[in-house]
Amino acid sequence: RRRTRVHHLQQWKDAGEKWAMLTSYDAMTAAVFDEAGIPALLVGDSAANTVYGMPTTVPVTLDHMVPLVRAVVAGAPHALVVADLVFGSYEASDEQAVHSAVRLMKEGGAHAVKLEGGVARASRIRAVVAAGIPVMGHVGFTPQAEHALGGYRVQGRGDAAAQVVADAKAVAEAGAFSVVLEMVPADVARQVTSTLAIPTVGIGAGADCDAQVLVWQDFAGLSERTGRFVKKFADVRTTLADAARTYAAEVREGSFPADEHSF
Ligand code: KIV
Ligand code: NA
Repeated sequence: RRRTRVHHLQQWKDAGEKWAMLTSYDAMTAAVFDEAGIPALLVGDSAANTVYGMPTTVPVTLDHMVPLVRAVVAGAPHALVVADLVFGSYEASDEQAVHSAVRLMKEGGAHAVKLEGGVARASRIRAVVAAGIPVMGHVGFTPQAEHALGGYRVQGRGDAAAQVVADAKAVAEAGAFSVVLEMVPADVARQVTSTLAIPTVGIGAGADCDAQVLVWQDFAGLSERTGRFVKKFADVRTTLADAARTYAAEVREGSFPADEHSF
């Protein structure tokens, strides 16, 4: 297997082949997902929640992200590794966006970066792409703007559909290689997917996107609560909790370690 490159994602769209993306924040899950054939991994700023226990993605910094990106790149020999530009690392200017994206590439070893926003961020995308860094866009519900958007809610219902379509188009015209559509109605996502030449990656955006992405702790059933757009493909939370209870009980009653675990 060769390393996934951004042009492969375009080839898959052109051939009508769908693909799945997962987040990862450490070398071991990265290796498992890479081995399982997941072609692209996202070191999302959802690390704020899943790794660092923060209530939103707002407080997480590039300094938090860089070591996680390094770990995922180290664990995944085939996947395209995309790293999120965090809130506060690209809003001020095109120069700030390029500087931050360069950090994720140079210090983290990322193969591409992702940033949130459409029409309002087109200039940032253009600048980062001009620096030679592939950019994935992210429109619809953008968690970094949670407070501006009035909480976790579907974007692009009714008359607001036009804004989501315009945002996705702006991202594509600015040179992004792909765009995440988060929590938008399935019919709006279908329209965007058929309009844009670049692949769309849906999360809570229906079945007609070119690809899907999920946070791994959500898809694996480790997260305590998830949105209704998540399907649990495993029950890792129960598996781990049962293992921890069994281990503790065996230590208490003296059945672990047994002779075969001892020297
Ligand atoms: O940070 C993240 O995990 C994301 C995906 C949910 C798209 O941005
Ligand atoms: Na993110």
